[in-house]
Amino acid sequence: MTHKIAVLPGDGIGPEIVAEAVAVLHALDLDIALQTAPVGGAAYEASGHPLPEATLNLARESDAILFGAVGDWKYDTLERSLRPEQAILGLRKQLGLFANFRPAICYEQLTHASSLKPELVAGLDILIIRELTGDIYFGQPRGRRSAPDGQFAGAEEAFDTMRYSRPEIERIAHVAFQAARLRSKKVTSVDKANVLETFQFWKDVVTEVHGQYPDVELEHMYVDNAAMQLVRAPKKFDVVVTGNMFGDILSDEASMLTGSIGMLPSASLNDRNQGLYEPSHGSAPDIAGKGVANPLATILSAAMMLKFSLRETRAAERIEAAVSQVLTDGLRTADIWSEGNRRVGTREMGQAVIDALRGDAGSGKTILTTS
Ligand code: IPM
Ligand code: MG
Repeated sequence: MTHKIAVLPGDGIGPEIVAEAVAVLHALDLDIALQTAPVGGAAYEASGHPLPEATLNLARESDAILFGAVGDWKYDTLERSLRPEQAILGLRKQLGLFANFRPAICYEQLTHASSLKPELVAGLDILIIRELTGDIYFGQPRGRRSAPDGQFAGAEEAFDTMRYSRPEIERIAHVAFQAARLRSKKVTSVDKANVLETFQFWKDVVTEVHGQYPDVELEHMYVDNAAMQLVRAPKKFDVVVTGNMFGDILSDEASMLTGSIGMLPSASLNDRNQGLYEPSHGSAPDIAGKGVANPLATILSAAMMLKFSLRETRAAERIEAAVSQVLTDGLRTADIWSEGNRRVGTREMGQAVIDALRGDAGSGKTILTTS
């Protein structure tokens, strides 16, 4: 059966890094059909909307979506519904991609690229599971108005709504406990139950679901403490599950523990295992078009895609091994470069991964293992 993959390169460095991931996919001799469509600012320029109907339909009909990045400061003045970010938010919501996997893995070869002491991050392997279609990101009502009451009644105000329903919490909790079973059987649920009604409910529901997973250890942690513990003793974490907004913040923090956000892939899945795969980093417009961006996060996202949505585990492992091999060989893009290594550009890094694939490198770092 041919795997249908929608390729959405987007803005900034998106097209450059996605091109390398696509080249890697083509080097694998898989039965795949790739179709490219515009998204984000690029789509707005082409057709006046960041997520055109045709792009959304292509994504819906695909087995998986390989996504680059969206956004550029030059669109900051557009009305919100036309900004590039709406494309990724719209895809998540429209396709029901509620489960976001953001691994933070410190490659042995890159231990020294972290801003933390090597002993704190050596061997780090955390999986952040972020709920992706609820919370204050999507809660209604939201908007601007004249304050109806309170000390500042009548003044202009803005507001958003934080909310979670029971089924939304239950399904992401199941995802987290099941992922933990394939790892070290420990889940940290991050909340703000001491202040927020929404997150007291979160904590209660996660605790209830935990009843079905007696073999998995569950710990609760407030988000402020979690932010602190992540830089104090990151290796104490294994699977972290949290809401949309806390997950957005903590996953960026966790990514930097590993040295470079340029190395980290992510997967966003719905209940049909259809997934969107994108690097954890953004569109980096400041370095776009210069050929210096690190394509490895996108290449590793393609590996996650093969594993999660396309069930091509062997091919995924070959990519992971090839990435590990080029790092061992000392190749580094600017974001992970250090004295004594060879600085390469985007193309050269992508080509090196393909060469390593052809030579079939040994075993790599398995990002995620599925049953
Ligand atoms: C992310 C990004 C997005 C988010 C933006 C681009 C809307 O920061 O994927 O983490 O906030 O979710
Ligand atoms: Mg973010």
